[in-house]
Amino acid sequence: MNKDKYAVWGNPIAQSKSPKIHQLFAQQTAQQMDYVAMLGDEANFELQLRTFFAEGAKGCNITAPFKMRAYALADEYSERALTAEACNTLKRLDDGRLYADNTDGAGLVSDLARLGWLKPQQSMLILGAGGATKGVLLPLLQAQQNIVIANRTLATAQELADKFAQYGQITAVQLSDIPVQKFDVVINATSLGLQGKTVDISPEILQKATAVYDMQYAKDADTPFVTWAKSLGATQVSDGFGMLVGQAAHSFELWRGVMPDVQPILTSAVI
Ligand code: ATR
Repeated sequence: MNKDKYAVWGNPIAQSKSPKIHQLFAQQTAQQMDYVAMLGDEANFELQLRTFFAEGAKGCNITAPFKMRAYALADEYSERALTAEACNTLKRLDDGRLYADNTDGAGLVSDLARLGWLKPQQSMLILGAGGATKGVLLPLLQAQQNIVIANRTLATAQELADKFAQYGQITAVQLSDIPVQKFDVVINATSLGLQGKTVDISPEILQKATAVYDMQYAKDADTPFVTWAKSLGATQVSDGFGMLVGQAAHSFELWRGVMPDVQPILTSAVI
């Protein structure tokens, strides 16, 4: 039997854990599908993606640096893709048109719920106002989080707060002006960990926080932000591996109509 074809597109892509995660989901739910990693070419990405779907692929995930280019290519959009202005998931519709979704925020919300850190009307501080933040704001606001976005460049955070104010309680501050109060959850959504650095905020913010989450992940070692939070005595600390598996699960559900169980993947030795 021909298996349905899926992939993750990015550049670089060799490091991606998505093929293994989706293969495990497929086994778990007895779905006949292949899922591979595809190296996108900066010069020809749109053509590559068109060819991929013209050859019969059913869907794909998109990762850096192509999430906005994939978004521009789609024909239909979920609300969470529209507000993110980027997509991490494309699905080929029966008539051949492409449906864009963004499951990053749903993956984060699912992971916070799994950790027991998601209570309605709690206070949440998000560090950073780039694409990673914009991608998760709608699902967080729909989960009734009262959000403060803190960013080095205040204007970028303010733009996001203005754009998302229609969905819930959200304000913006400069990184150096974060009120020293007890936040229920502090989330790092800056890109600084990639350079081995942590964002420059008062340690008191993390010491007072009930829970600390880093949207970045590292399977075998703590991320710089997780390391810093733990060194300050924070006890409820998590990296974003569960968010990665969560966004994959929500993409899988969109394509296959079945929600896989993330727990065996979170503890799998092969990922
Ligand atoms: P992504 O799309 O992955 O979110 P991005 O759009 O480059 O990445 O955004 C990175 C985020 O990290 C931004 O909020 C950025 O702050 P600015 O808007 O002020 O640029 C933040 N960031 C990057 N380097 C930083 C630094 N040295 N100190 C504080 N914040 C930083």
